[in-house]
Parts: sequence; structure tokens; C-alpha cells
Amino acid sequence: MSEKNIMIDAIDVNKEYRRAGAIIRALADVNLKIKSGEFVIIQGPTGCGKSTLLNVLSGLDLPDSGRIIFDGENIARATEDRLSRLRRQKIGFVFQDFNLVNTLTAIENVEAVLWPTVLRQKEIENRGITALRDVNLLARKDHYPVQMSGGEQQRCAIARAIIHRPRVILADEPSGDLDPTSEKEIMDLLTKINKEMETTVIVVTHRDLSKYGTKTIRMDNGRITKIQ
Ligand SMILES: Nc1ncnc2c1ncn2[C@@H]1O[C@H](COP(=O)(O)OP(=O)(O)OP(=O)(O)O)[C@@H](O)[C@H]1O
Ligand SMILES: [Mg+2]
Repeated sequence: MSEKNIMIDAIDVNKEYRRAGAIIRALADVNLKIKSGEFVIIQGPTGCGKSTLLNVLSGLDLPDSGRIIFDGENIARATEDRLSRLRRQKIGFVFQDFNLVNTLTAIENVEAVLWPTVLRQKEIENRGITALRDVNLLARKDHYPVQMSGGEQQRCAIARAIIHRPRVILADEPSGDLDPTSEKEIMDLLTKINKEMETTVIVVTHRDLSKYGTKTIRMDNGRITKIQ
């Protein structure tokens, strides 16, 4: 089978933490292939290793052993410089707590990803406006985070995550702090981005969001227990 359309290939990945004399196997023999254009839901209980997995898949953290092939490149061995470039160019991150800068407006939060840059101010502004329009938040462009609802803040964070047109969006519990209506809105928006921009989307969550995924991977105790 051709491996050409594999976006992320994790092979025999292990990661342990030592705490107070105890060893925690946060990732135990994890094997995982994610194809370009998939929408993958990784579901499991608290502490099962979901955030650790996203961190190693994006090179934010290194596994103890195993390989992570991201878009054809083994990132378990890449330099920090290379990794930060890869993240800047190919990955958009979305977090549970939105991670917006409170002293910046919605559009400034989105544009900030592109600073410092060789782009002209007008070009940056155009891209910011496009990204906010993509998430249907243009009307809140000049609002600060405190002036937006949780769902709006997360849409702003998604605009920030897509402004550089990443190949992959990694979302860690993106609807964890939201009510059911906003959760649906955020998951529908990620679905739209997945389809229209052909961005690979990976969402980790303890909730049952499997209906949104093209594939659901279940984790428990650092292990993948089921792929369906
Ligand atoms: N820096 C660390 N030092 C020690 N142990 C850690 C560290 N980070 C995570 N762990 C442990 O590794 C395991 C996996 O943690 P991880 O944060 O990946 O879980 P999670 O599935 O994201 O949980 P949650 O749903 O609560 O966010 C847990 O037992 C956690 O306590
Ligand atoms: Mg977590």
C-alpha cells in the first residue's frame, strides 16, 4: 500500500514519567497512522495520555522511544529549530482554554501569529479578516476576549490556528469548557475546515465526539485500545 497520503505515522511510541518514585506509562507502545484529510477523534478518560500524545505528535515533546513520521519526516530526531519551523508552517493548535491574549482584540490575536513577518501590514490585515470570516466572527473583530462568549473565543482561536493554512489542526479538548450548543458549533466548524480546506484534524477529548470523526481512536492507560 502506498504510504504517500499518510500525514502522521507513529511507530512503537513510548513515553514514561517518573513521579515520587512511581513510573507512569503515559504512552505505551502506541502505533497510529493518520491519513491526510482525515478527521480523527482520540477519546479516553482523564490521565490516559491524550495530551502527551498530541505533544509528541507535534514535536512539542519527545518520546522516550519510537518514531514519529510527520509529513514524511522523523520528528523524534529533529532539532528544536526544525521543530519550531514545522509547527509554525504545518500545524495549527487549538486548546481547551482558548489561549487568547487578553490585551489584544480578536483580529490582533489572529494576526499575531504572522508577527514578525516580511508581509505588509495590509496583507496581514487581509489574512486576519479572511480567517475571521472563515469562522463567522468578523462582527467581533475589534472585541477583546472578555467581550466574547466562550464559543466566540474558541472560534477566534480557530481563526488563529488556520491563518497560515496548516496541513494539520491539533485540538486538545476544544469544547471542554463549552455548553452543548457551542460544542456543536465548534465541532461543525472544524468539520467545515476539514472538508473545505482539506486540513487534517485531530481532536482529543474525554467526551463522545465520535460522530464528528472519520475515525475514532480510543485510549486507556497510555494504550490505544480500539480504532474504529
Ligand atoms: N510532566 C509530567 N510529569 C509527570 N507526570 C505527568 C506529566 N505530564 C503528564 N503526566 C502523567 O501522565 C499521564 C498522562 O497525562 P496526560 O496529560 O497526557 O493525560 P490526558 O489524557 O491528557 O488527561 P486529561 O483528560 O485530564 O487532560 C497522567 O497520569 C499524568 O498524570
Ligand atoms: Mg489532557
